[in-house]
Amino acid sequence: MLLKTKNLMKAFGGLKAIDKVDFELPSGEIRGIIGPNGSGKSTFFNLVSGVYDPDPGSYIEFNGHDITNEPPHKIGALGLSRTFQLLRLYQDMSVINNVMSGYHTRVKYKFFEAVIGRKKIWDQEKEIKDEMMELLSFVGLADYAELNASELSGGQRRLLVLARAIAMKPKLLMLDEPAAGLSPVNVDNLMKIIMQLKDKYGLTLIIIEHILKVVMDTCNIVTVLDHGQKIAEGTPNQVKDDNAVIEAYLGKKMNDEEMRKALAV
Ligand SMILES: Nc1ncnc2c1ncn2[C@@H]1O[C@H](COP(=O)(O)OP(=O)(O)OP(=O)(O)O)[C@@H](O)[C@H]1O
Ligand SMILES: [Mg+2]
Repeated sequence: MLLKTKNLMKAFGGLKAIDKVDFELPSGEIRGIIGPNGSGKSTFFNLVSGVYDPDPGSYIEFNGHDITNEPPHKIGALGLSRTFQLLRLYQDMSVINNVMSGYHTRVKYKFFEAVIGRKKIWDQEKEIKDEMMELLSFVGLADYAELNASELSGGQRRLLVLARAIAMKPKLLMLDEPAAGLSPVNVDNLMKIIMQLKDKYGLTLIIIEHILKVVMDTCNIVTVLDHGQKIAEGTPNQVKDDNAVIEAYLGKKMNDEEMRKALAV
């Protein structure tokens, strides 16, 4: 398993945000995580990526390493990259430098400088920049490389966040509502790019997504959270037909017409 949690728990005061979640993700899979607002999806990401410490008794393993209480930079260095639900970009930094910052999260610059000297560093920076430009072209942002991140449109910012997360060369990429706020055409475009990046970089993916159609179309397996607990897991079709899921996710049972609408975007 690339990622595994056992008995994962996190309480905020009396609220069990994540409640005894066992989770297993093999390499190469595209996993969807769905669930109502406040069901614990982002908290799950925050625990796995080391942003929050889990409660005692929890266990998290990534690529054979026990990462239960490791800090984010260590987990990142092992090959786990994630995006945040609320976009976190360096607004006053250029697009290309935002992407480079993703790369440097992984590679410790000072270390290289000490070992191989300044001239080589410079050459290497150029090489990295070329590589990062290629990544920007891939997501369609090459023409905007020198603009400030704050000058991009909402959709372009989503692409930049994605490019920066991939600049780390992760094994596992976790996306928290990557398509939030995009129009249907842009959602399709973004998902297409995500799938291409998956193939190009050999990524394993976990996608938290409210847009059911995206989950149904792209994920191999879907995990459903409700009140911090895993209430279902299966193929999109299995999960779609699960009454507990429909009730939890949408607050009520839907008739066929309502279901059709929910799935059509
Ligand atoms: N840092 C925190 N401090 C206190 N409570 C928190 C914190 N982070 C999350 N929670 C609570 O934990 C629960 C789960 O929140 P989480 O953000 O994981 O939900 P979510 O499934 O991602 O929801 P959404 O779909 O709205 O993004 C919520 O009740 C939330 O208020
Ligand atoms: Mg969330």
